[in-house]
Amino acid sequence: MKLKLPEELQFITNNMLPHKSTTERMDGKVCVITGTTSGIGYEAARQFAKGGADLVMVCRNKDKAEPIRQKLTDEFGTSVDLFIADFQRLDEVRRVAEEISVKYPKIHGLVNNAGVFNKRRRLTPDGNEMTMGVIHLASFLLTKRLIENMKNGAPSRILYISSEAHRFGGFNLKDMDWHKRPYIGLFAYGAAKIAQIHTAMVLAEQLEASGVMVNLMHPGAVRTNIGMNNGLFYRLYSRYVLRWFLKDASKSGEAIYYLAADPSLNGVTGKFFNQTIEEKPAWYSVKEKMRQQVWDRTEELVRPYLKEGL
Ligand SMILES: NC(=O)c1ccc[n+]([C@@H]2O[C@H](COP(=O)([O-])OP(=O)(O)OC[C@H]3O[C@@H](n4cnc5c(N)ncnc54)[C@H](OP(=O)(O)O)[C@@H]3O)[C@@H](O)[C@H]2O)c1
Repeated sequence: MKLKLPEELQFITNNMLPHKSTTERMDGKVCVITGTTSGIGYEAARQFAKGGADLVMVCRNKDKAEPIRQKLTDEFGTSVDLFIADFQRLDEVRRVAEEISVKYPKIHGLVNNAGVFNKRRRLTPDGNEMTMGVIHLASFLLTKRLIENMKNGAPSRILYISSEAHRFGGFNLKDMDWHKRPYIGLFAYGAAKIAQIHTAMVLAEQLEASGVMVNLMHPGAVRTNIGMNNGLFYRLYSRYVLRWFLKDASKSGEAIYYLAADPSLNGVTGKFFNQTIEEKPAWYSVKEKMRQQVWDRTEELVRPYLKEGL
């Protein structure tokens, strides 16, 4: 007899199912991807370049990113542009969004991928808890400032690289920066992903009639550099233990490209995918009453960077 798990636990079996890919091309389509210097973002960038998209990479480290830009250009002969911004600094996110929006009036794809995992509580120069700052606040601000360009490019797609780790919970609207509770890295990571799910759902509703689709995806549990900033012990654990349980990140790149390009997803918005399979996120990340509150609080936190001329 085949085991049928309750809807909220189906992520366990979804991880094991075969995933979809597409041969659809994206020639002439402008696609912005954040964090392409390693792991999932790099693999996704390869897929977009292979599919003929005009790729716009947003990275923080020019020395790491420039050789990748050159390599993808040489290998696939497509246009690959590079913008530099550290997502710990919202003023840099705002600046880079301005630069991109001027250079690319029409954008067809935006993949919010850049992310970080910290074992200990760390703050950004702006004073935000770093995981929340890089994963949630930066992607929220970048997306908001590129919305008009996405509308100009419609039908277009925004994709958030989320995580099944949102199921760890940890989100507290009154303590988004973890100054009231003992910090637990996995919960802080889960909290940032939950905040992102809430606001992505609001955005999907706001953009329903605009031709801009908004979805989230878990890219699989894959071998990347995530967490490598957490000291020698974590690095050794990740390199020599964790890696045996993880898959190759190229699968995540294919899944992201599928969700960004495949025609079967035309008009699909406000959904969460486990790689390419639609599934239900944890109930506390899609509470209808909560999502507008998270949106409002997030907007409050990034408000200084939403105003012109600041
Ligand atoms: N690996 C997994 O199994 C897994 C599972 C679920 C979800 N995810 C999600 O997948 C996304 C990509 O992570 P990954 O696993 O591929 O990790 P990764 O190899 O560490 O890649 C993270 C990317 O984000 C960039 N980044 C980090 N901090 C940044 C900042 N302050 N400003 C700008 N860019 C920054 C990194 O740039 P640098 O190279 O300069 O550090 C890198 O390009 C993340 O959102 C993560 O939460 C990963």
